[in-house]
Amino acid sequence: MTDNNAIIRAEGLTKIFRDFWHRPKVRAVDALSFEVRPGEVFGLLGPNGSGKSTTLKMILGLLHPSHGQLSVLGRSPRDVKTKERVGYLPEESYLYQYLTGEETLDFYGRLFDLGSGERRERIEQLLRMIGLEHARNRVVAEFSKGMARRIGLAQALVNDPDLVILDEPTSGLDPLGCRQVKDLIVTLARRGKTILLSSHLLADVEDVCDRIAILYNGRIQAMGPIKDLLEEKSRLQLTIPELPPDAMKRVLTVIREAIGQDPEVDHPRRNLEHYFLEVVEKARRGSADSSGVGPSEGVARYLSHE
Ligand SMILES: Nc1ncnc2c1ncn2[C@@H]1O[C@H](COP(=O)(O)OP(=O)(O)OP(=O)(O)O)[C@@H](O)[C@H]1O
Ligand SMILES: [Mg+2]
Repeated sequence: MTDNNAIIRAEGLTKIFRDFWHRPKVRAVDALSFEVRPGEVFGLLGPNGSGKSTTLKMILGLLHPSHGQLSVLGRSPRDVKTKERVGYLPEESYLYQYLTGEETLDFYGRLFDLGSGERRERIEQLLRMIGLEHARNRVVAEFSKGMARRIGLAQALVNDPDLVILDEPTSGLDPLGCRQVKDLIVTLARRGKTILLSSHLLADVEDVCDRIAILYNGRIQAMGPIKDLLEEKSRLQLTIPELPPDAMKRVLTVIREAIGQDPEVDHPRRNLEHYFLEVVEKARRGSADSSGVGPSEGVARYLSHE
């Protein structure tokens, strides 16, 4: 099934890296076919070396496919008009070490030809969004890994892109940072942006992606909506308040009669992420903010229009 409105359409996309003598060396991406639809969060998942970054770089027009068709926002990925509407967070930090946080965003704003008033406004909103307002005048060389990742993310959004491509968006972030980035991704998608991300952090992908493709050796091994892939349709889970013993006994009897076996009964466990965030939030309320990352605030206003 092909969708005419697809934001990204890849058919038989292949990348073969050649050696110095042009002999095929690595088939990094092998006949990938997939579509990313408007407003969707699509995740490329796979172990190290499975071809995630290579796929993203072809979609960005940074690498030329060896075979196959690729259209991004209805055009070639190399078209300038396409590039204007795409934001990219690379896997490795590539920031200019001697620029401050604010200058970094200003630099990228200039690359997209934004006027000075608009740049100033967007930079303010972005710094607030990523919790780095107070670090605006520190040079990037002094930033922690998580701070650099945040400024990279802000950089990817400075042109108010329709398509946001994030290569390992949560790498180097603490659980609080991961949560914020994940919330931000979901909010951006709700505001009509399309997000393509890669990760090998399964929990992150599970939390934010509508659909995923799992890559191995450059090939898609599984693809579909997260819900369909993970839901055990033939099993059921009830979560209820603690029951008095006699009521519990009656419930178990009914179930035993119906299915001929005892159900599994257990207390649900909070997940460690929620628990950790609760503990850190409590500590944060009781102390002044550290010099690193301050509280972040929703999503930048200029990104909010439909
Ligand atoms: N410029 C290059 N020249 C030669 N081979 C490359 C090049 N870039 C990537 N490869 C190879 O292509 C394959 C896929 O690499 P890629 O970086 O796309 O993987 P990945 O899924 O992003 O992995 P990771 O999770 O480690 O980031 C690997 O075998 C890698 O060695
Ligand atoms: Mg990679």
